[in-house]
Amino acid sequence: MSSEQTDVSAPSPDVAPVLLITGASSGIGAATARLARAEGWRVVLAARSAEKLEALAEELGGPEHALAVPCDVTDWDEQQRMVQSALDAYEGLDAAFANAGFGGARGFLKDTPEHWKDMVLTNVYGAALTIRATIPALSSSKGHLLLTSSVAGRRVLPGSFYSVTKHAVTAMGEAARQDLNGTGIRVTLIEPGMVDTPFFENKPTDALQGEDIARAVMFALSQPPHVDVNEILVRPTAQAG
Ligand SMILES: NC(=O)c1ccc[n+]([C@@H]2O[C@H](COP(=O)([O-])OP(=O)(O)OC[C@H]3O[C@@H](n4cnc5c(N)ncnc54)[C@H](OP(=O)(O)O)[C@@H]3O)[C@@H](O)[C@H]2O)c1
Repeated sequence: MSSEQTDVSAPSPDVAPVLLITGASSGIGAATARLARAEGWRVVLAARSAEKLEALAEELGGPEHALAVPCDVTDWDEQQRMVQSALDAYEGLDAAFANAGFGGARGFLKDTPEHWKDMVLTNVYGAALTIRATIPALSSSKGHLLLTSSVAGRRVLPGSFYSVTKHAVTAMGEAARQDLNGTGIRVTLIEPGMVDTPFFENKPTDALQGEDIARAVMFALSQPPHVDVNEILVRPTAQAG
């Protein structure tokens, strides 16, 4: 590369690229926000816990660099407002990480029907709404869409309705990739094994940390425009299943 040419994969020093993250108040989303900021991105932080988002945005440098946008991903109007807030603040969107989600007990006689409904609305419908809300802005930027599925979205776990929702997310990633082919938008499925986050009531042992998944996200984001990393499955070394 001559000294006249620019490496288009690297964030421009003048205009930092913008990454919107749902589920940014905690765990994988918060870790990704921290690493993205460290690597020169501006971040839009979305989740329901406004105070946690405000504290993280402050930690990451305030509104010039990190914007807190309270949003329940199950609500279409709130998702549209979330994207509009990002565009109002930063004028564009280079990447969106649909990461909000939660789990449940294994066994079709466990949890409540209401818990299943919330899980579908958050993990599946919420992710689909994030795709829908961000496509126009990502089309303009030839941007990048990432979705958090799971190891549980690649292999069926006994009695796990959560695994069912994550199989839907895995399918959604490939469906979106094919749908968006030709637009310049790249699509990446992030499929973590066990990660030590508040996802679990009891702290897991030998688990990954949120920053281990954040590095996978940044790896996909840092590829040159002609490279679309479609799936990244990351397990802790000690995880058998
Ligand atoms: N931890 C693991 O082992 C693991 C493994 C594979 C995949 N995953 C997936 O990774 C993603 C992140 O989970 P995590 O492990 O980082 O757990 P976490 O720390 O509990 O984070 C979950 C995030 O989702 C947000 N969220 C939940 N419902 C929401 C809603 N209706 N609207 C907006 N935001 C909502 C939560 O924020 P608020 O409560 O503030 O809304 C929180 O920021 C999830 O999709 C999960 O299924 C986790």
